[in-house]
Amino acid sequence: MVQSPKTLIAGNWKMNGFSSDLSQFTAVVEALSKKPVPDCQVLLCPPVTILAAASTISENSALQTGAQNTHIAQSGAHTGDIGAAMLKDAGADFIIVGHSERRADHQETDGVVNAKAQSCLNAGLVPIICVGESQAERASGLALTVVEHQLNGSVPDCDETQEIVIAYEPVWAIGTGLVPDTDDITNMHAAIREWLVNRFGDKGHGIRILYGGSLKPSNAAQILPIANVNGGLIGGASLKSEDFLGIVYAV
Ligand code: PGA
Repeated sequence: MVQSPKTLIAGNWKMNGFSSDLSQFTAVVEALSKKPVPDCQVLLCPPVTILAAASTISENSALQTGAQNTHIAQSGAHTGDIGAAMLKDAGADFIIVGHSERRADHQETDGVVNAKAQSCLNAGLVPIICVGESQAERASGLALTVVEHQLNGSVPDCDETQEIVIAYEPVWAIGTGLVPDTDDITNMHAAIREWLVNRFGDKGHGIRILYGGSLKPSNAAQILPIANVNGGLIGGASLKSEDFLGIVYAV
């Protein structure tokens, strides 16, 4: 059986951050060099405007950088868009795809998310594919069905050498301070693991499943040890290095 995967703590800055905030990257790089976390991979995804500068700061450090979206094509006549190969050129190792905010703001369907994830793989990058139910769907008992449907549509085929990450982010927990209870996280992550093993065989045991939604230093120690939680995707609490590092050091 595939070994259980290394924890990934990933920060998603969303549409926040100016060049004056690059000091947060420097602070994380310095902290990880003084107090390393060998059992944990650490990633920050700033807005694309500061991705290259952030990647320069974190080069040769324990901090990796990523992007929050990509176009389906690698390049071409798509004014204002950016392809995965270009994001790689700017220093990205990972790209978040299918975040619920993009699904809502840009009407991204599972098919679009799938094509974006495929585009990441084609560029040699790791897609972090986001899924998660709404409050109404959870209240109607449909959470597992909805997430399974999103996985069916959003996860591309990949071979043995290609890596993907799944992020389970209940929409109602994002930015609200609400988190599902431990049993709900346990059940959802177990269901996602089962889906991954059905789809990819043994490789499915090694695919990381992140939890996201109001993850903070104060609840990280409760959430991160749950079975099949292989790390976290963090929005608000990733903006300040102290908060973000508080989660990293809770691993
Ligand atoms: P949050 O966001 O940590 O601010 O809830 C998580 C996310 O949207 O990835």
